[in-house]
Amino acid sequence: MTFKLPRYTAPDELIHGGGIIEAAKRAGIPIEQWIDLSTGINPNGWPVPTLPASTWQRLPESNDGLEQAIQEYYSFDITNGLNNFVITAGSQSAIQLLPQLFPKGTIWIPEEGYSEHPYWWNFYQHKVFLYRPEDLNMLFQHKKGSPLPFDTLLIINPNNPTTQTYKKSFLEKLLNVIEVESKQLVIDEAFLDTQPEHSLLNRSNNKHLIILRSLGKFFGLAGIRCGVLFSHPSLLNTVRKHLGPWQVATPSRWVATQALNDTNWQKEATILLKHASCRLETLLQKSLQHHIQSNNIISLTRSDYFCSILCSDFEKQNIIHSQLLKHAILVRKFSDSFRLRFGLPKNESEWEKLTHALTNIRKSQKTE
Ligand SMILES: Cc1ncc(COP(=O)(O)O)c(C=O)c1O
Repeated sequence: MTFKLPRYTAPDELIHGGGIIEAAKRAGIPIEQWIDLSTGINPNGWPVPTLPASTWQRLPESNDGLEQAIQEYYSFDITNGLNNFVITAGSQSAIQLLPQLFPKGTIWIPEEGYSEHPYWWNFYQHKVFLYRPEDLNMLFQHKKGSPLPFDTLLIINPNNPTTQTYKKSFLEKLLNVIEVESKQLVIDEAFLDTQPEHSLLNRSNNKHLIILRSLGKFFGLAGIRCGVLFSHPSLLNTVRKHLGPWQVATPSRWVATQALNDTNWQKEATILLKHASCRLETLLQKSLQHHIQSNNIISLTRSDYFCSILCSDFEKQNIIHSQLLKHAILVRKFSDSFRLRFGLPKNESEWEKLTHALTNIRKSQKTE
């Protein structure tokens, strides 16, 4: 098996969603008039009540209810509750730590995906190669005993921003190949809460598997900085030693516990997210029809949290992005591909505003 994958080069600066203050200043439109669709998180996150005063005064303590809530929430596929995890300050903390735990080696990372992954593996001097989804199929032709082309394979499921989603059966097959050769599989399941059927959490006790989960996306609680790393107990011991005792602050632990225990909110949020993202996909298909038919847009796909459009070139990407900016709507423009990501509007007033802007864009296309 020979692969010629491109090697990753770190950019000078990593850019993320957000930046509404800067966008408002540049466009000269007051910030109150903007809608920010540039992030991919649930815009109607778990409603945080007033916190007990004691949470601000006490140092974080384990077994305050958070560990039990995590066990309940993530054990959807398992009879004996999962207890092989470490709580982290968002998945970001785990993303920065993992490359420090393994000898310098080779890692495969999706060509398009959350940019912090390649950045940190490269920062800690691993050789980072960028794969496309179709490259993974070749791995099934691997002959037992012959070397795999990596030490670690990273999968983001579903991928942000491409929306690529891998089925559980596919991932199980991959894990089998990786396990036989004593390599490791890291799966970033930050956006998987609404599709538990694709999770490999029930295999997370496997020595060759690491799974990252986040409370930032589905629960919309990016600000509390809480995530969970699942793996085999031997790796978890090392992770604990690196992270120290107070990864997640007491107020964050309290909020995370309540959110993970709120099953009624979770059921409703799943339905609302799926409904909203289908609505967004239909709106974009209709409004950008002209661009789709003339192949200015190569693909329009959706996850339960956002829609993603891949434009044919920089000019088309830029036109759509700047037309929306004129209407005080910020979507995420990627610089490593010609992709735009549209987050979900928060309420009917934002839907109206987006629909109005897209209708104007459609009209201007017709008169071009
Ligand atoms: C795929 C993916 N994984 C992980 C993260 C990090 O999220 P957090 O640190 O808030 O858990 C992000 C953030 O955007 C992401 O897109």
